[in-house]
Amino acid sequence: MSDRLLEVRDLRTTFRTVAGAVQAVGGVSFDLGANETLGIVGESGSGKTVLARTIMGLQPRTNVEVTGSVLLNGHEVVGASERAMRALWATEVAMVFQDPMTSLNPVMRIGKQIDETLRVRLGMDRHAARARAIELLTMVGIPSAESRYRAYPTEFSGGMRQRVVIAAALACSPKLLIADEPTTGLDVTIQAQILNLLDSLKQQLAMSVILITHDLGVVATRASRIIVMYAGRIVEMGDTRDVFYHHRMPYTRALLQSSPKVSNAPHTRLAVIPGRPPNLATAQVGCAFAPRCAYATEQCHTERPVLVEAAAPGHRFACWNPLPEVAEALR
Ligand SMILES: Nc1ncnc2c1ncn2[C@@H]1O[C@H](COP(=O)(O)OP(=O)(O)OP(=O)(O)O)[C@@H](O)[C@H]1O
Ligand SMILES: [Mg+2]
Repeated sequence: MSDRLLEVRDLRTTFRTVAGAVQAVGGVSFDLGANETLGIVGESGSGKTVLARTIMGLQPRTNVEVTGSVLLNGHEVVGASERAMRALWATEVAMVFQDPMTSLNPVMRIGKQIDETLRVRLGMDRHAARARAIELLTMVGIPSAESRYRAYPTEFSGGMRQRVVIAAALACSPKLLIADEPTTGLDVTIQAQILNLLDSLKQQLAMSVILITHDLGVVATRASRIIVMYAGRIVEMGDTRDVFYHHRMPYTRALLQSSPKVSNAPHTRLAVIPGRPPNLATAQVGCAFAPRCAYATEQCHTERPVLVEAAAPGHRFACWNPLPEVAEALR
């Protein structure tokens, strides 16, 4: 048995829509080890959520085609029945969804929502489930967990609600937690608290984490490796340090420049990447980023670049006209 918790190979997710086939994930391959935090970054619409949902085996069965392979702790997800997936959800893999309000039932006490997962998935009785739910709420930093257990989601602030969502995801001690934009909509101080919480829970529970964000700043100090996505594909990947300081793909640089920095004065205008992401319903020729790229050459418009190895082990980029390797001293 390898120590790889997750092996994704040539994963493709295509939606059949009235406008034609939309390839939201277009041939993604990567591995994730035990106890590792992987950051997945990319602009809105780059396919982060579709990738996460495909790894979870959560795509609807109709009008979607998924090919390739997702091995989760040795279990193949692609093509697995919902019944087979149910056995993996919560215990092997759990997800904190992008919109925390939709993952909590507004008319159900939060304790009950966690209880249910424990009773259905782990077969716990009512008392054991209640005790465990209170323990989980305490673990994620909900004060007076015993009384808050009976509160409704609307009685919590945004940050506290996100803690509840995390507690629910962790109910069955998953080996992998996928957190999709877990801090969007929260103010900066609360964002840091939630990210710190995820970090400490990861250590405490010895799990792996996939942290999805459009903001490279969020994953800078949290992830050991980073995947950069554009138009459903990986355009650069590597150790966090390499992606930050030795990136070769112009899109990675553009993302870094658009990332808000704590040192920015309030209301600083961020450099946004000019142009729009491509329409995924039309066939892509060449590099999908070429129309927006200041460095694009003729070849970039006609031939699709594949991921090639950079200098450092595990660092790869897909670009015909990459940025020069930046010497450490130039940082
Ligand atoms: N059910 C669907 N049918 C058709 N197209 C879809 C469907 N779901 C997602 N898409 C398309 O797939 C692409 C990727 O969407 P996805 O939600 O994964 O982006 P994202 O990177 O998570 O963006 P964001 O940062 O805004 O959350 C988008 O172009 C989106 O319109
Ligand atoms: Mg998303």
